[in-house]
Amino acid sequence: MMVRQIVWCQPGRLMVVLSMVVGVMFLVGMWQNLLTAHTVNTPSPLSVNPLYPSRIPLMDLPDFTYIINNDVCGKEDVFITVIIHTHPANSIERDIMRQNVPSEHLRDLGMRRVFLLARAEWQDQKLYQKTPQWSINKENMEYHDIIQGNFKEHYHNLTYKHIMGLQWATNYCPQTKYIIKMDDDIAVDLYQFRDRLKYRFEDRENLILGLLQVEAKPVRKKESKWYVSLEDYPEKYYAPFMSGWAYAMTVDAARAIVEESHRWPYFWIDDVHVTGTLAEKVGVKREGLNRFYTLHVDHLHCCVELPNSADYYCDFLAGPSEGDPDVLVKVLSHARSCYVDPCQRRPPEASVTKTCVRAKIPPLAPLGKGHGEIVKIT
Ligand SMILES: *[C@@H]1O[C@H](CO)[C@@H](O)[C@H](O)[C@H]1NC(C)=O
Repeated sequence: MMVRQIVWCQPGRLMVVLSMVVGVMFLVGMWQNLLTAHTVNTPSPLSVNPLYPSRIPLMDLPDFTYIINNDVCGKEDVFITVIIHTHPANSIERDIMRQNVPSEHLRDLGMRRVFLLARAEWQDQKLYQKTPQWSINKENMEYHDIIQGNFKEHYHNLTYKHIMGLQWATNYCPQTKYIIKMDDDIAVDLYQFRDRLKYRFEDRENLILGLLQVEAKPVRKKESKWYVSLEDYPEKYYAPFMSGWAYAMTVDAARAIVEESHRWPYFWIDDVHVTGTLAEKVGVKREGLNRFYTLHVDHLHCCVELPNSADYYCDFLAGPSEGDPDVLVKVLSHARSCYVDPCQRRPPEASVTKTCVRAKIPPLAPLGKGHGEIVKIT
């Protein structure tokens, strides 16, 4: 009996000793955790969230980072990534796009869409409605489609936004074939745009397609919002560039342009700098799809109002809303219904440019809402 008890006791004691050792180790570990608790806000490099890299340069901004970022592409098949320049205060335009061009449709067509924002400081944005950061966060919680950079929202900072968008797409949607860059006040028929890229331009590389501007001149009148000093841009003409309203760029071209953007001084007219100057430096080809664009909001009205409009696709891939949200709704919902229930092409004799009597004489003055001056359209 005694012998058996001793034999019994020995492993028991061993267990007690072992559990005490483990217990002490556990307590020491906790203590160490408490001591180092103040450092938990600076994660080790291993635990960095790839959506929030701590410091990545953006052109000449050394401390660029995302305030909001989303992984909208993952490893899925994506043909087109749509990046939309938008001001934080323009939530109406963003909602019109979400409602009238649903993300389920985009997904079915191999497309993804994100909105590009910067940091709005209301005291510098008197023209805009006050948009607190929490409302942007809330919008993103609902739609997960916002990319917000930590630089200041300002029209002189749109080149940062533009390169941020291209850099974002090449990093987080590297599998995409095309990037469509557009503005939030432009009516763009993404369904038709996608078909055109898919069936006419699928295998192209090193290319930008859109509303090509040639022989555009810098504005030298000091009073103009678009005044450009000789120091900022000494040449007489801008390099041929794409209107920032809406253009498509192959992802290899975007990579080359982003890479090149770190090597040149900042220039604030973003479509000129990105799709003109930088594209020229890296030898990216630019082709005009100008006949599929309209400069007149009246043409867009006609697209949806002419007799039998419901049966016909709009003749245009894109046109200006001129700040009228109703035009956006009408054109986008018309484009959507032509996707759900396919439409026909308008016969040439019934084309909108020929039959639209609403259209006023084309404005000779530079387009007010563009980011560059459009002087001559080819
Ligand atoms: C552009 O953004 C940078 C970084 O946030 C800021 O320092 C600069 O003042 C902004 N430019 C303008 C014209 O507001």
